[in-house]
Amino acid sequence: MKLPLAVLLLAASLPANTPDPGLAARGELHYSACAACHDPGGTTALGPDLRGVFGRRAATAPGFRYSGALRRSGIVWDQATLDRFIADPQTAVPGNTMPYPGLPDSDQRRELLAYLKTLQ
Ligand code: HEC
Repeated sequence: MKLPLAVLLLAASLPANTPDPGLAARGELHYSACAACHDPGGTTALGPDLRGVFGRRAATAPGFRYSGALRRSGIVWDQATLDRFIADPQTAVPGNTMPYPGLPDSDQRRELLAYLKTLQ
């Protein structure tokens, strides 16, 4: 495939460690599977507020009644623990009460987590 010159110039001008700017945008599309329970604006109804979830201890968002399983998990949410949980919630935290089967595609999880990071 031939890329337009502008795209090549843009790619060359980015430092190697610049995050892919499209990552979070693609992740927002995957987040539609979460938004019914995790309102991106933080309204807590069917699921806890996920704003600022990175770096937070599991089951500590105010105003939500968590399962004992998640409260006892001892997890601190970071890239690795969130990745494992989203991939297969019941294997990661047996007995948790999140009615979501998991997202098996690791690229899609990377995109989703990039978007999740933007929720503050
Ligand atoms: C049908 C509702 C529902 C859907 C869909 C859903 N969740 Fe959840 N989520 C919950 C509930 C309920 C909990 C609390 C589970 C518990 O207490 O065991 C939870 C917990 C979580 C937690 C732990 C939060 C904390 O404060 O410890 C994360 C992270 C999370 N969900 C992410 C997601 C993501 C990302 C998606 C989409 C891929 C998603 N959830 C889809 C209902 C849902």
